[in-house]
Amino acid sequence: MSEKAVLQFRGKTYELPVIVGTEGEIAIDVQSLRAQSGLITLDEGYANTGSCRSSITFIDGEKGILRYRGYPIEELAEHSNFVETAYLVIFGELPTAQQLADFRALLSEHEYLHEDLRHHFEGFPPNAHPMGTLSAMINAANSFQPVLLQPEDDARFMDSAARLMSKVRTIAAASYKKSVGQPMNYPRPDLPYVSNFLHMMFSRPNKPYEPDPDAVRALDLILTLHADHEQNCSTSTVRMVGSSQANMWASASAGVCALWGPLHGGANTAVVQMLEQIHQSGESVEQIIVKVKAKNSKMKLMGFGHRVYKNFDPRAKIIKKACDVVLEKLKRTDPLLDIAKKLEEAALNDSYFVERKLYPNVDFYSGIILRAIGIPVNMFTVIFAIGRMPGWIANWREVHLDPNSRIYRPRQIYTGPTLRSYVPMEQRGR
Ligand code: SDX
Repeated sequence: MSEKAVLQFRGKTYELPVIVGTEGEIAIDVQSLRAQSGLITLDEGYANTGSCRSSITFIDGEKGILRYRGYPIEELAEHSNFVETAYLVIFGELPTAQQLADFRALLSEHEYLHEDLRHHFEGFPPNAHPMGTLSAMINAANSFQPVLLQPEDDARFMDSAARLMSKVRTIAAASYKKSVGQPMNYPRPDLPYVSNFLHMMFSRPNKPYEPDPDAVRALDLILTLHADHEQNCSTSTVRMVGSSQANMWASASAGVCALWGPLHGGANTAVVQMLEQIHQSGESVEQIIVKVKAKNSKMKLMGFGHRVYKNFDPRAKIIKKACDVVLEKLKRTDPLLDIAKKLEEAALNDSYFVERKLYPNVDFYSGIILRAIGIPVNMFTVIFAIGRMPGWIANWREVHLDPNSRIYRPRQIYTGPTLRSYVPMEQRGR
């Protein structure tokens, strides 16, 4: 007999079904609440609201657990790579050697952009933010792709998923080259996913870029760690747009816009800007902590805090460890890393942060690695988008394949003016 939740209100009793997930999470299913009682729920920011059932990613924020399709992020970070992890996130199982080879071949086959698309980049000013260019160009590129009419058809879906995953990388690199006034690079069919991206980013006609294996490994790790993260702001946006039966590219383009914000994917850029500001100003980390804690302070410690993790973000732990290794392998030092470590130390010993369970999140250290690779700061969030694309694709398909899927259309509590009549112009105040 499944459990029920009982709600009592104004002398009436309502029974609501309870749903238990495979990891023991419990939800009250309020789908019948309004029909039974006329009541709705209100949960600003959705901190207590599940929007869907999903089998892609599991997070336990109290324990700092993150698993893609049941596999711990720590194991995927150590043993897997981005393309294999993308396959797992999108299709639900680790690929066989043949499946992985076929997927890689599709990614290579679809790495080009239609020649007519190259002129679109000329319409952007050099200082255009690459996230804006990325979102626009994903929709533009969509016009050159066959429409995916049957997302349930595995072969057709895989082809469309590979197209989107592959071209997002080419678009990103092209927007960077446009912003620095350099010619765009064609992808190299001999290079695998991440190396090819670095080639497209950094090769110049007079100086071809030979991908550094350590840089490739470091970027591959960053992308793997960003591949999905259950119902974060941008993934929920992708699902929201997809729930109207909008196509996968339009939904991903909307996801890019949601990711852009500094409270979400834009935080990796904001962290490095904050660290650089501290480095330039010579302010101590103690002074920064005081500023952040000050009454009515608008300043947040960027890269800290998380809606779900009330413990360490497991990705932050992995990236922090990788920072030292990558900097050493790439023979670089970065004063910002020392500042970041001191900030973390100070915050973790300060009651303001401890009481609010604010720990470093995925964005706190990722920028250190991206800087070491030579990725410009304004491209950091684009890297996040490239990494998150498999998660967006998987969530979009989950919405489309769900036989019970309905358009996402939340309710509201109206707090505006009550009924009033039209006032002719001559009767209105000056
Ligand atoms: C990502 O959701 C995901 O999964 C996202 C992500 C993913 O992989 O998709 O993990 C990626 O977006 C990580 C988060 C990146 N953003 C930042 O680093 C920006 C800084 N962090 C904060 O803006 C904040 O922590 C959020 C946005 C991440 C979470 O916001 P919440 O859950 O709405 O928390 P809140 O703002 O209600 O904070 C609770 C309290 C408040 O103080 P009080 O009102 O109780 O006094 O904690 C304070 C906040 O002011 N607080 C911070 C803080 N984060 C929260 N104070 C200082 N610095 C911070 N970073």
